[in-house]
Amino acid sequence: MIDSHAHLTVKAYRRDLEAVLARAGAGGVTSILTVGFDMASSEAGVHLAEKCPDIYAAVGIHPHDATTLNLDALGRLEELASSPKVVAIGEIGLDFYRDLSPRRTQEDAFRLQIGLAKDLELPIIVHDRDAHQRTVQVLREESVSCGVLHCFSGDLNLARQGIELGLYISFAGPITFNGKKAEEILGHIPDERILVETDCPYLAPVPNRGKRNEPAYVRYVLERVRSRKSTPSPNRTPAPSSAFLNRPARPPSRSVVTPVATNRLYAFLWWHCGFLV
Ligand code: NI
Repeated sequence: MIDSHAHLTVKAYRRDLEAVLARAGAGGVTSILTVGFDMASSEAGVHLAEKCPDIYAAVGIHPHDATTLNLDALGRLEELASSPKVVAIGEIGLDFYRDLSPRRTQEDAFRLQIGLAKDLELPIIVHDRDAHQRTVQVLREESVSCGVLHCFSGDLNLARQGIELGLYISFAGPITFNGKKAEEILGHIPDERILVETDCPYLAPVPNRGKRNEPAYVRYVLERVRSRKSTPSPNRTPAPSSAFLNRPARPPSRSVVTPVATNRLYAFLWWHCGFLV
């Protein structure tokens, strides 16, 4: 299993990150993507990923902090993204629920970071809260074709639009306690477009709802996704990671993932393999 969206560098783990990671490993989590939401978390995520072979990083400025994204910050994100452990730009997007930055500024920051991701040929991790229509519009206008709608909260129509663009749909803890909409959607999303995540330390899934979340709990999200797939696709051939590893265009092992952009995309796709195996 891969936790495709975690925030390992937040205060919540300051005292016991090692134990958290040990529980993840013992629980079958093979890789974790730690996702930036401001400059400090982006920097810290890259440092952590560079120390830990099974941790990858995404760098980006969340819409809540959109006002902090100036050209200097964008340049720093680009520098950080030169680390071979950075596999995506995120989390970026629009949050019209809390509106902590002016909407116009959120959109500018979103577009600028999409531009960075495209320059670097990296996928994006999209945060969309109560901004579905506008998010899709921006993604379309910017011709985004690689990324993930993280902690998906939309309806089937939105999921279809995302898939049409080439995006993945990622589910987190809410699917375990607020899963009715997701239940309707899941049957219509191809397995190979689904990712699972914790978004820890937030949104702990049942049976740990209300507690601090951690990567080991991604198993509850995965179990719920699997149980709610009404009809398992008959054609689905679980693809072990090794099937991908044997392709000559791809690196033979995680340890040699290089800064070449295509290989970073590959690392991104790897999460999906983690879902299948
Ligand atoms: Ni997040």
